[in-house]
Amino acid sequence: MTMPPTDAAAAVAARLDDRRDRRTLLRGTAGIALGYGIGATLQATYVYSVYVTNWTVAPVSTRLLANVVAVTGLVGCLALIRAHRARTTTLMLGAVLVAAMVGASARFGTQIVLGVYEAPAASVRDAELFSGFLMGTISGLIGMWAMVSRRAMREQIRVATRDAVHIEVAVKALEQEEIRVRRAVAEGLHGTLQSKLVLVDARLASLLSRHGQDALDDESRTSVEWIRAELDAAREIDVREMSRLLYPDRLELGLVPALRALLGRIPASIATQLVVSDSVRVLDDPASGSLTLSERLLAVRVVEEGITNSLKHGPAGSVRVVLDTSDGLLHVGVENDGELYDPVSAGVASGTARLDTRLSLVGGRLELTPGSGRGAHLDAWLPLGTGAL
Ligand SMILES: Nc1ncnc2c1ncn2[C@@H]1O[C@H](COP(=O)(O)OP(=O)(O)OP(=O)(O)O)[C@@H](O)[C@H]1O
Ligand SMILES: [Mg+2]
Repeated sequence: MTMPPTDAAAAVAARLDDRRDRRTLLRGTAGIALGYGIGATLQATYVYSVYVTNWTVAPVSTRLLANVVAVTGLVGCLALIRAHRARTTTLMLGAVLVAAMVGASARFGTQIVLGVYEAPAASVRDAELFSGFLMGTISGLIGMWAMVSRRAMREQIRVATRDAVHIEVAVKALEQEEIRVRRAVAEGLHGTLQSKLVLVDARLASLLSRHGQDALDDESRTSVEWIRAELDAAREIDVREMSRLLYPDRLELGLVPALRALLGRIPASIATQLVVSDSVRVLDDPASGSLTLSERLLAVRVVEEGITNSLKHGPAGSVRVVLDTSDGLLHVGVENDGELYDPVSAGVASGTARLDTRLSLVGGRLELTPGSGRGAHLDAWLPLGTGAL
């Protein structure tokens, strides 16, 4: 599970962000400015020299070098004043304008040093400086825009990741709480309520065993026997069944023992089969602890729904449960041989829809499909290792 960032981790992330901002700004600006520089070099050498009268002809390498120096001046200045740390538009614009001025001056200075112009007129100087400044400003602004966009994208990804972590933590906490409450209520029903019912039954039995004067008359005896039978049925069927529904028998021992206990309660007239792959046996070994309680509980719920549907909608003569794994997913399949499931005429999804929602919360899914010729297949895929309880 992803842990919340510590102060040290936050400091490392901030340093990384700073480096990323710097790289995006400088690379973006340099790329655009170089493009401009090459274009300007070709234009000055091969276009203006042909069409502009009195145009100063200089070798292409000289003009290219001047533009490269301009780009270096522009980018170097942005790096020096740490323009990537500017947070307001004014500061960003100011940094770009200063760097563009430096770049333009560096270019004009290089042109003079390399002899492109010997004694340039003021208009030539102004034109060179202005075009260099414009080129630097546009390049710097595009670099800034790229940096700000990437910064915003990074923040969006971070918020999305944080939300996902919160959801994951909340789901895990809910699962733990659900298991705790289920176990507590199941134990309460199975233990406390059942023992109270047993005590009441014992008291009634002692009433029935009275002899002599204290003995009950026939009518009272019949009533007490009826009460005992009803209490016994309530204890055996309602209380114990309810307790198992809340927290399946033998779940602590593993998924396979819990499913065996579940299948063992199906009437003997219905054939049952449990097919478990070797990979699931290894996972289900309580010593390995690979399959968490919540994963086991969810898998048992799928089988319970599959069995209930098989008996209710089938009705089935046999039920087959399959457990295997593939690509980090636990596959739970329930097949039956009842009436062929027809998705078109089937009722509105209820139990299966609830299970599907539950599975999707942990990244799993559920499918209800017709069997081959008869019955239905209920298949669930549950991601493994999403966190131990
Ligand atoms: N094993 C099956 N054989 C035939 N039809 C099935 C089978 N399982 C499900 N169906 C069909 O799919 C429908 C949806 O099943 P689902 O389990 O979602 O709801 P339900 O069983 O009707 O209600 P609930 O699960 O709340 O008791 C059912 O109404 C039924 O028509
Ligand atoms: Mg159902």
